[in-house]
Amino acid sequence: MRIEFILNGEAVAVEAPPDITLLDLLRDYLNLTGTKEGCAVGECGACAVIKDGRLVNSCMVLAPQAEGCEIVTIEGVHAADGGPNDLQQHFIEYGAVQCGICIPGMIMAGEALLRQNPHPTRAEIRLALAGNLCRCTGYQQIVDAIEATAKGRRAQP
Ligand code: FES
Ligand code: FES
Repeated sequence: MRIEFILNGEAVAVEAPPDITLLDLLRDYLNLTGTKEGCAVGECGACAVIKDGRLVNSCMVLAPQAEGCEIVTIEGVHAADGGPNDLQQHFIEYGAVQCGICIPGMIMAGEALLRQNPHPTRAEIRLALAGNLCRCTGYQQIVDAIEATAKGRRAQP
């Protein structure tokens, strides 16, 4: 079937079977491999993307459910010059990245939170990351990086 939606700000139309997941559509049909597959059963958050402003696990969304939606993946998160944005820079600065498998999902969770709540408390940051598992970092540095980004964005004119 033909599926049409907005992907990282651009209109896309793709022919794909109706019974695949959005995760597989992104990775296998659109070659956007930044979104990771961890558990494939909705428990790890590695596959998280933003769908119409809400964080979703793309392994739990059927591809046809993207029809007419606005989807943002990790490839759509960057600075104006194409380099890392402030959140990604803070992940680097705070040592919030180790093996990296969880990081695209963590960045999407952080972006989704900061778009909805520019003033998150640390408890709210932790709650926003509740669906994203990391086996490496212990989460502290990730929370620090998101908190620093929130402060930086609030300080911008
Ligand atoms: S791969 Fe989707 S939640 Fe784990
Ligand atoms: S950095 Fe390895 S799972 Fe998070």
